[in-house]
Amino acid sequence: MNQKVKLSGQFCYDTVGTLRLAAAAAGALVILTSCSMSEEVRRIEQVRQLQQRRNLSNPTDLTGQQIFIRSCNTCHPGGEEGMGPALNHLAKLFPSDEALKKFLRSGSGMMPAQPKEVLNDRELESLVTYLRALNP
Ligand code: HEC
Repeated sequence: MNQKVKLSGQFCYDTVGTLRLAAAAAGALVILTSCSMSEEVRRIEQVRQLQQRRNLSNPTDLTGQQIFIRSCNTCHPGGEEGMGPALNHLAKLFPSDEALKKFLRSGSGMMPAQPKEVLNDRELESLVTYLRALNP
């Protein structure tokens, strides 16, 4: 009889002990998981910043001519009239480079826009220089 009580007491103690251990382990797991989560978030942010920096100093900047051939020549062949108009009134239509850039960034009707993901600022600058020199 005495032994039984002692046993169940022991059992009780063990159970509580095990539960405490389990709780501690679960707690540690939660802490560990959230640690590696924020680590992951930090790493993603680092990669994003790296990509942004790389875009700003894009070493694969295309020249104005390359961009024109890639994105414009189909509709303005050599700057002549094609599906789009001839590009020989640019000085009159867009006296400032800013106006021309704004037009190119947003596109017009059938003419596709050229957002930053397609042309970075430097490429847009090169394209504008190329267009200004183009005399169809
Ligand atoms: C899918 C055909 C197409 C492509 C590609 C295209 N354009 Fe155009 N472009 C047009 C059309 C059509 C117009 C006339 C737009 C309008 O009337 O709204 C136009 C108008 C223009 C104009 C205004 C000239 C004017 O007389 O109205 C400029 C400048 C121009 N395009 C430059 C470019 C450049 C630079 C590119 C390459 C980044 C390009 N376009 C790509 C079809 C195109």
